[in-house]
Amino acid sequence: MSDSNCPNQRLTEVTEGKLALSRRNFFAGIAVAAGSIGLTGIAESADAATKRYKVCSTKDVKVGSAVMFLVKSANIMVLITQPKSGIFRAFNPSCTHEGFQIDGVQGKNLVCPMHQAQFDMATGAVKRGPARKALKKYTVTKIGTTIYINA
Ligand code: FES
Repeated sequence: MSDSNCPNQRLTEVTEGKLALSRRNFFAGIAVAAGSIGLTGIAESADAATKRYKVCSTKDVKVGSAVMFLVKSANIMVLITQPKSGIFRAFNPSCTHEGFQIDGVQGKNLVCPMHQAQFDMATGAVKRGPARKALKKYTVTKIGTTIYINA
């Protein structure tokens, strides 16, 4: 069970090492969480093509780590990172090389397991090929201790 105040339910029990994905660890898998992540009633984007979705609590993603969430109501997987304390980013976890799912962190980079492309966890920019395009980003809004994305 999550210790956050978000109504998410973790799909898998993860160890601290896998969850943390800290810079101390050379490489580790990305934790996956899912649950009743829904369209929020409090706000919608000014862009009519996007809506705001509640994803998680700030407590769910430690500094220097990445956690995967299934946003059921949008039917998308979202990778939330916290590259610096209090700074949160959200990405589509599909590698821009051949679409495999990002599943690790190495230093400050997200790593694709298939051909080891790396992406900056703060910007999504390619840090190592064979991928050539940055990860797709979602706009993140932090309200109190809750993380929302526009998708
Ligand atoms: S699919 Fe990710 S590096 Fe090739």
